[in-house]
Amino acid sequence: MARRFGIDWDSYLEGFHTERPGAMEQVLSRAVNGHHTPYRWLARAVSARATTVLDLACGAGAMTRELERPGRLVVGVDISAAELELAQRRNAGPWIRGDALRLPFADQSLDAVVSSMGMVVIHPTSALLEEVARVLRPGGMLAFIAPTVRPVSPGDIRVGANVVTRLRSLPRFPGPLELTDFAATLRSHGMRKYEDGRERYRITIHSRADAELMISALYLPATSQARLNAAIAYLEREVRDHGKVDLAVPMRRILALK
Ligand SMILES: C[S@@+](CC[C@H](N)C(=O)[O-])C[C@H]1O[C@@H](n2cnc3c(N)ncnc32)[C@H](O)[C@@H]1O
Repeated sequence: MARRFGIDWDSYLEGFHTERPGAMEQVLSRAVNGHHTPYRWLARAVSARATTVLDLACGAGAMTRELERPGRLVVGVDISAAELELAQRRNAGPWIRGDALRLPFADQSLDAVVSSMGMVVIHPTSALLEEVARVLRPGGMLAFIAPTVRPVSPGDIRVGANVVTRLRSLPRFPGPLELTDFAATLRSHGMRKYEDGRERYRITIHSRADAELMISALYLPATSQARLNAAIAYLEREVRDHGKVDLAVPMRRILALK
């Protein structure tokens, strides 16, 4: 069982994704940088020659759909039945319910393993990377995005600090938020990092409903409803005073080859 910050993450994640399937997708689909979302940024990194692709921890399938190309098989795997049910309503899949730490694929059978947010959610990271390395063919690619702490502007820091003050917590993840020394971790699993990029995405909040959606998509396992309400009320006040409020979503994209 994954415990970090004294939290039973397996139970928390199961409850979160059963109650709020698609919440992460609703938020990340609205995060933009120019004309693209984090999902598109990640999909663009995947080689056109990759014809067997796994979307690891696919959730409701936004990344899976972004990866689809003629002649490519994209399989979505997730542990949450509720997330997969939503994914299935949108397209045929294939979707597989399974644990990322015991992937239902043969050794060296995939051209690419892709994950939006999976690397900070699935723990322990070393067991996950061992499994990824097992299913990737030699020369296969691991590509993932994860939340990070920069780049942000001074305005982002002000809004972010005001939200965190109301919540009295940063959003938490079972895995490490800032992946440090990750090149060495990859090397120990037979993979070589070849790109490590950062981009700032922005979610614009125009209404109380937007604020509620944003706050409801964060993992805040130890935060009371009163604190969530205080953060929503703060964002609503910003919208009333300024017409809108931008929340920064800095993301990191890491690409590696086996
Ligand atoms: C933050 S959500 C990301 C969903 C999707 N990739 C996206 O970006 O929209 C994390 C996902 O990881 C899934 N997950 C958590 N632990 C897992 C595990 N051990 N194996 C497979 N999926 C897992 C959750 O059910 C959830 O759908």
